[in-house]
Amino acid sequence: MAKRGIGDVALRGRRVLLRVDFNVPQDATGQIADDWRIREALPTLNHLRAAGARTVLATHLGRPHGQRDPRLSLKPIARRLSSLLGQPVPLADDLVGIHALELSARVENGQFLMLENLRFHPGEEANDPAFAGELARFGEVFVQDAFAVLHRAHASTVGVAKRLPSVAGLLVEREVRELTPLVVDPAHPYAVLIGGAKVADKLPLLASFCGRADTILIGGALAFPFLAAEGHATGTSPMDATLLPAVHELTARAAAAGTTLVLPSDLVVDRPGGAGPEVAAVEAIPPDAAAHDIGPATRARFRAALAGTRTVFWNGPLGQTEDPRFALGTREVLGALTGIPGHHVAGGGDSQRAAEELGVLGAFGFISTGGGASLEFVQGLELPGLAVLPDA
Ligand code: 3PG
Repeated sequence: MAKRGIGDVALRGRRVLLRVDFNVPQDATGQIADDWRIREALPTLNHLRAAGARTVLATHLGRPHGQRDPRLSLKPIARRLSSLLGQPVPLADDLVGIHALELSARVENGQFLMLENLRFHPGEEANDPAFAGELARFGEVFVQDAFAVLHRAHASTVGVAKRLPSVAGLLVEREVRELTPLVVDPAHPYAVLIGGAKVADKLPLLASFCGRADTILIGGALAFPFLAAEGHATGTSPMDATLLPAVHELTARAAAAGTTLVLPSDLVVDRPGGAGPEVAAVEAIPPDAAAHDIGPATRARFRAALAGTRTVFWNGPLGQTEDPRFALGTREVLGALTGIPGHHVAGGGDSQRAAEELGVLGAFGFISTGGGASLEFVQGLELPGLAVLPDA
């Protein structure tokens, strides 16, 4: 369902509260490791500037859970945005305090102000009505352009949208347009390729693909609980045993729905004092070894499973691609996708970054800025931050 957009509201001279998702990766020194999510918001920012809006930006960074953490200050982000826009974007050093309100009153037509990290305030994740009310004081109009966080019912997604006239930004519109074909009548065979690190977040979400997708291929850290559930020892690889009941339930559900689960049959492992990475069959992972990538037999099986598909959704690297020794699995499987015609969509900043670094961006027609959000969307689940926006 299309949402009201920024073309549907008067903006000149009006105070706009703009929610963006600038939750970008940082390196060890706190510098921005990848500004892709910031760049994806530029069409909306340029539109607001050209329309003469007086814009206050709000975003979260990381998971400080209501505590002020200087390592998660938005200072580097405000600096990067200033340089991308070619105009200053001052950062208020508080969120909803008097200082931020005073600064916001001085924002002129076509200018911007950024508030500090939303998650420094406990009211953000709690969707506290008082905090949402305080945030709403920054705008006469609320523009929601943070697609990547729309699966969270927070003060800056749901709370504020209930208090102000609200519209979708250009990025949210584009994400919905590109992802909808995966929910409404996708072309079959449809394969889902899942990896990455947020195992506990992703596992419960896989269930909705059962019956919807024909095949689910599982790599990355997400594969470990599945292998453990099959009785394999996973060495020192991170494995949360509390996830095993959910894995058993999912496996039974996939079988009942006729969806094939494809798990790794071998992995690239490394052990302390070893001569370097080695390949181990999943039946024979040494107790002191940690797995970091899928192995050659798994790469071949994944490629074979993807051949002939017409729709592919990918979320999360299949190995620790930041280390070149463990990037081959993701590179080879995604590289093979380049040669397979069809609708290929990826989700998440980690996926985008890995695809770019591995030189396989060309395998995808669209990459969503949302990791968890795109995963929920393509399962047909309702995103609270999207549902709350008025329809066109
Ligand atoms: C993301 O990075 O996927 C979004 O910014 C949401 O972050 P979260 O998983 O910490 O809520």
